[in-house]
Amino acid sequence: MDLHHATEGATAEERAAVDAVLGQPETGWVGGIRSAADSHVARGGHAARARRDLLLPVLHSVQSHVGWISHAALDYVGTRLTIPPAEAYGVASFYALLSTTPQPRTVVHVCDDIACQTAGAEDLCALLEAEFGPPGTATDHDTTWHRSPCLGQCDKAPAALVQHANDESGAYQTLVSLTDEPLIAAMHAGPGPMFGPGAVATERSEGAVAGGWGRQGRSVGPGPQGAALAAAIARGPSGVIEELKTAKLLGRGGAAFPTGVKWEAVANQAARPHYVVCNADESEPGTFKDRVLIESDPMALLEAMAIAGFATGSEQGYLYIRGEYPDATRALHTAIEQARADGLLGPDVLGHGFAFDVELRQGAGAYICGEETALFNSIEGYRGEPRNKPPFPVERGLFGRPTVVNNVETLVNVLRIVTDGGAAFAATGTTDSTGTRFFCVSGSIEGPGVYEVEMGATLGDVLELAGGVRGGRPLQAILLGGAAGTFVGPGELDLPLSFEATRAAGTTLGSGVVMAFDDTVDLEAILVRIARFFRDESCGQCVPCRVGTMRQEEMLLKKDVSLLDDLAQAMRDASICGLGQTAANAIQSALTKFGVLRGARG
Ligand SMILES: Cc1cc2nc3c(=O)[nH]c(=O)nc-3n(C[C@H](O)[C@H](O)[C@H](O)COP(=O)(O)O)c2cc1C
Ligand code: SF4
Ligand code: FES
Repeated sequence: MDLHHATEGATAEERAAVDAVLGQPETGWVGGIRSAADSHVARGGHAARARRDLLLPVLHSVQSHVGWISHAALDYVGTRLTIPPAEAYGVASFYALLSTTPQPRTVVHVCDDIACQTAGAEDLCALLEAEFGPPGTATDHDTTWHRSPCLGQCDKAPAALVQHANDESGAYQTLVSLTDEPLIAAMHAGPGPMFGPGAVATERSEGAVAGGWGRQGRSVGPGPQGAALAAAIARGPSGVIEELKTAKLLGRGGAAFPTGVKWEAVANQAARPHYVVCNADESEPGTFKDRVLIESDPMALLEAMAIAGFATGSEQGYLYIRGEYPDATRALHTAIEQARADGLLGPDVLGHGFAFDVELRQGAGAYICGEETALFNSIEGYRGEPRNKPPFPVERGLFGRPTVVNNVETLVNVLRIVTDGGAAFAATGTTDSTGTRFFCVSGSIEGPGVYEVEMGATLGDVLELAGGVRGGRPLQAILLGGAAGTFVGPGELDLPLSFEATRAAGTTLGSGVVMAFDDTVDLEAILVRIARFFRDESCGQCVPCRVGTMRQEEMLLKKDVSLLDDLAQAMRDASICGLGQTAANAIQSALTKFGVLRGARG
């Protein structure tokens, strides 16, 4: 196939941003200067195509240096990686944090999602609109603003992500907790120190984790650094897997799959290589525990990934973190270097003759990339669209190879299991939900934050740990498990937070979200925001979800939900992935339990 690129159009700045990731082009066939030899032999195509997985890092580089990705830049990227321009455009336009149209160098993404709504995000957006015009309008100072879904900073709501392209300090992104005055002043002032790290923050995350492991010498992992990895090596690969099975550890990413079974399935695959993938995409509204865990102790996560590599016979790990987590990303970059220097990663881990290393990959603003197969596609340089299953990742995952994919919290649990043994872990929590759980408590609450409690503690216990409802107001509802979870009422505070008890009660622990709403919150507005979230985040690949999420939002806006149950059933039955299958759960539960839009049902 002939690819026709117009590489001449790319500016020096755009080329430099691409070359910063890919290095200088080696031949005229992949964007370099055409030599006499190039006229006779086509060279470099295979090598370029083998680097397709660098497409997203390259697009990030252009976005962060230039502020947007022009067609000329896409052409140059396509030439360097031998990707058709339309395909490169398809990938770039998939992600919310990448812009394929010109925009100011400084962009403020203001979260207007559900926790931030309870903290006045709508008033803030109205103020910004009055001052600077609708979202996307450029100010005099090369600055603009957009509305954003949850930024994983609900404990510091209302939150925003400030992006400043080509920042001399290299601090391209900053997550901030907002008050209106400093933000508006900063946007009027334009690029400069006001937008430096923490400049418009009222309070930064201390990365504090309440309870449990925080008191055992290191932030979240047990024992000194490397001790768990050494214990795992002493147990041997099958010994580690046996301990995980004894521990009855279930995945914390939402699906509650047994971790030991997953690791064993990968370890037993004849096909090579095997991969370990850590899912730190964490984009479920209301979820921020993985960010706090990483910011608290990035080394603990890397150590757990090395144990996964050892047990499953994988030499390469990928850590996929959502694009809106600048502090956690910086912490991981530093920790990876340190882990290599300390021998926790590298060609001869802790001198025991096995190799394992980790590559960090950043998402770019797409909730669906948390779905494991969409995540693989995103790493591989394709649009983040889920794949049909089977085949499951343990057989054919990343790059078509056997892959173990685990959530951050799941992996961090492994440290304690290999150190203390699976039986000790299984002795905590409940019979079927062992260990502890990190809950992300936010909304109308006195002490928003991450709270670690033993499985089986009640919903009321968790609310009490977080100081109860803000200002002592009456509790109206709690969103449990995230936007893909369900609402529960103030009469359900005795609900034990375990996989089995929540399942029996028709709800879910999901990603550990406990979001409280007091009596002043407009639940109908919250439901509309949830519906908008799913409509925005649907990848559009299958009709029930693409059309269903749109119709669901329309029904709520028109206040006519008579067909909602039928629609929900169709989405549940016929969607390819969990997004479409769960997109109506929270809304249906609120309509049923709290009579929101009562009278508007058929
Ligand atoms: C729409 C969607 C989004 C998801 N987002 C995440 C996520 O952000 N983090 C995560 O760990 N799992 C997420 N998952 C679940 C993953 O597909 C997968 O089950 C999980 O990473 C497996 O890890 P675990 O076994 O440790 O739970 C998501 C699933 C769906 C359907
Ligand atoms: S259910 Fe939705 S998000 Fe999942 S594949 Fe289908 S369209 Fe995409
Ligand atoms: S950061 Fe705004 S809802 Fe989570």
